[in-house]
Amino acid sequence: MAVALLVAAGSGERLGADRPKAFVVLAGRPMLEWSVLALRAAGIEEIVVALPPDGVAPPGCVGVAGGATRSESVRSALRAALPGDHVVVHDAARPLVTPAHFRDAIAALADADAAIAAAPMTDTVKQAGEDRRVTATLDRTRLWAIQTPQAFRREVLERALDVDAATLAQATDDAWLVERAGGTVRVVESTPENFKVTTPHDLRVAELLLGERRA
Ligand code: CTP
Ligand code: MG
Repeated sequence: MAVALLVAAGSGERLGADRPKAFVVLAGRPMLEWSVLALRAAGIEEIVVALPPDGVAPPGCVGVAGGATRSESVRSALRAALPGDHVVVHDAARPLVTPAHFRDAIAALADADAAIAAAPMTDTVKQAGEDRRVTATLDRTRLWAIQTPQAFRREVLERALDVDAATLAQATDDAWLVERAGGTVRVVESTPENFKVTTPHDLRVAELLLGERRA
């Protein structure tokens, strides 16, 4: 049985809306509800949502107060989750997620501690020094742009999150915490359509795509 942790506690500073990002209305519903719909369509009913101050969880979901950092929000949500062998973490800021993303990530746990949605890189990626002088061109065929959902064996995620606040704050995704503990993390191919809504431009694109999906 899988439980879902939907992290929605961020303020959405870069979006600059009049409310926390996860509650901005997108194609007729608060952004976080698109992810709840996809989770339920994937057969995942136990959903814990990490909320910003004054945020209310969607009907049928358990709400908890989010933390100061994303990883702290994940940890708070995990502590409130009912027992289950598998945990899937998802950003409410990725409303274009589909049921298949959740199913594929969970299925890939058969031979990994963690399985993470990722899109192949389409841009060339270079490394540069502080002086902007290019020092390397990375091999694109082996690079992945990492998204959520990220699925975990529960005891692995619990152990990975059992670190000090400074380490938690350093994590830009949950899988990194598993990697640094020596766990096996596998990428599961996703598409760029499952992008994170960060800026007003992203919101416009998401509105368009979700509007099409609704029609
Ligand atoms: N998040 C969270 N708790 C935090 C910070 C972020 O639950 N303390 C969640 C956000 O709600 C979002 C996801 O983590 O669903 C990814 O974070 P991001 O896109 O950075 O969202 P915000 O932090 O809200 O945006 P910004 O960084 O622009 O303020
Ligand atoms: Mg943020």
